[in-house]
Amino acid sequence: MELFIDTAHVEEIKEAASWGVISGVTTNPTLIAKEKRDFKEVVKEICCIVSGPISAEVISTNCDGMVKEARELVQLAPNVVIKIPMTMEGIKAVHILKQENIRTNVTLIFSANQALLAARAGATYVSPFVGRLDDIGYDGTQVVKDTKDIFNGYGLATQVIAASIRHPQHVLQAAQAGSDIATVPYGILCKMFKHPLTDKGIERFLKDWEGVEGSR
Ligand code: E4P
Repeated sequence: MELFIDTAHVEEIKEAASWGVISGVTTNPTLIAKEKRDFKEVVKEICCIVSGPISAEVISTNCDGMVKEARELVQLAPNVVIKIPMTMEGIKAVHILKQENIRTNVTLIFSANQALLAARAGATYVSPFVGRLDDIGYDGTQVVKDTKDIFNGYGLATQVIAASIRHPQHVLQAAQAGSDIATVPYGILCKMFKHPLTDKGIERFLKDWEGVEGSR
């Protein structure tokens, strides 16, 4: 499973990119708003840091507006992917953009049926929101698994991005469910590094090393 970072914060993206573990970035209007910067400038900067797919979301609610925004956003960099909400207008836009070879990520997916519609319209990616489903008592990971099973069963090339990741266990569950990608906030990527036995082990090695002749 590939890892994307789910943030618009450039310093976080630079740091995670330096680890060599992330292959893409997802943003959304909420994440962009937090940065208090010009939207297009942020997207352009992110596209220079990470060469993989960078999702930038449209804010129009009708098909014509989404298509217009998408055509403008893809001019920013060749790795821009257009994030489109899961609505009838959004799916119409995905269908049009597919014919123009513009890659799309259908967001706000909460069921495998929604994912199937997006895939049939030609979405490059679908983003089931695992955490938001879990929040209301549903099983977000099951939606990821059902979607992957359907896509595999019918040879659909659309890739699944497990999104709305709340903790490291969600990342593990997404990988076990067969997700192609998980998009993970910076803080959770950091938590994935941690294990108390790793810290304890380093502490012990360094302490023991002090007793080795010529160690100082
Ligand atoms: C990613 O594509 C989504 O925008 C993001 O994961 C949503 O996460 P949230 O539910 O924590 O806002």
